[in-house]
Amino acid sequence: MKTIATSSVKLAASFIRKGDIAAFPTETVYGLGADAFNARAAQKIFKAKNRPPDNPLIVHIHSKSQLHDVACAIPPKAQTLVEAFFPGPLTLVLKKSKKIPPIVTAGLPTVCVRMPSLPLARRFLRACGMPVAAPSANLSGRPSPTTWQHVLNDLGGRIPVILKGQSTQHGLESTIVDCTANPPVLLRPGAIGREELEAVIGKIAVRKRGSKAVSPGLGYRHYSPNAKVIIVNNARGLPRTRGNWAFIGFSSVRGAKLSRKVASPKEYARVLYSFFRQADQAGIKTIYAEMPQKKGIGLALADRISRASSPRKSA
Ligand code: TXA
Ligand code: MG
Repeated sequence: MKTIATSSVKLAASFIRKGDIAAFPTETVYGLGADAFNARAAQKIFKAKNRPPDNPLIVHIHSKSQLHDVACAIPPKAQTLVEAFFPGPLTLVLKKSKKIPPIVTAGLPTVCVRMPSLPLARRFLRACGMPVAAPSANLSGRPSPTTWQHVLNDLGGRIPVILKGQSTQHGLESTIVDCTANPPVLLRPGAIGREELEAVIGKIAVRKRGSKAVSPGLGYRHYSPNAKVIIVNNARGLPRTRGNWAFIGFSSVRGAKLSRKVASPKEYARVLYSFFRQADQAGIKTIYAEMPQKKGIGLALADRISRASSPRKSA
C-alpha cells in the first residue's frame, strides 16, 4: 500500500468518510483514526498497528454536541470536567452509547472520549463528520509518534494517508479519568495534572499499579524504545566511560553517544518519545533517563519513563 502524506484536511478526511483509516496530528501525539460508528473501519486500525484486540480505542469529537452520540448518562463531575478541559488533553471514560460498536471499546460497556484542542485536528474531525476512534499512530509497543515522520516510519505502507502537522505540543498522551466511578479515578496521568483536575472536581482516586487493568492497554509494556531504559536520579548513576549509551534529563553529562539536556518537565515530556526513537536509530543499547518530580506533567513523565524501563512483556 502506498502511504500519502498530505496537508489537505479534505483529502485526509475523505479516507475516513469512505470507511478507511487516516493518521492525524493532535496536541498530544498523532492518532490513527477511523469512523467510530463503523466496526469494519475500526478493525483496520487494529490490523495496521498490530494492536491486541483487547485494547480499546479513544473516540475523538470536534464539538461538545457530539458527546451524546458517543456516551450516555454523563455524571455531574464528568460534565464539570468537560466544561473545564474540553477541548484539551483530557480523556473521559463514560458509559458507552449503543451507536459505538463493541470493537471500539474491546467489548467494554464504557467508552473513552476526548476533544482535541489542536485547530488542525478539530478541522479534520469536523471534515470527517462523525466521531473518530483513534489510538496513537504507532506500531503497537513502540513510543507514540510526535511527528508525522514518526508515523511514516512505523506505519508507512500499512496505512493509506497521513495528515501532516507540526510536531506535537505536549509530546505525551492525554490524561485518562474514569468518570463511571465516584470519586473519579485517574487511569493514566497526562498533560493535565492531577492537581488541576482536583481543583475543579475535588478528590480523585489513583489507580494502583498492579490493580486489575481497568484500562486494558495499560497492562502492556508501552512507550518503549528497543534500547534498555535505566532510571537515574542524578548524573552520578551514569557510566564513567564513553560508550554506546544515551542520557536524557536535567543534568549535563559526559561520555554519552547521544544526550539531551532539558530545561523543564514540560520540555522533557515534549521530546522524550522523539529521543527514544533517535536513540534506537543510532543503535544505542542503554538509555539513562533522569526521574522528574511527580507533580504536574512530571507525574505523566515519570509514569512513561517507568513503563519504558519495565521488563519486556507482550507487545
Ligand atoms: O492523547 C491521546 O490520548 C492519544 C491521541 C491520539 O488522542 N491517544 C492515545 O490512545 O494515546 P492510546 O494509544 O493510548 O489508546 C487508548 C487508551 C488505551 O490505553 C486504552 O486502554 C484506554 O485508552 N481505553 C480506551 N477505552 C477505554 C475504556 N473504556 N476504559 C478504560 N480505558 C480505555
Ligand atoms: Mg498508544
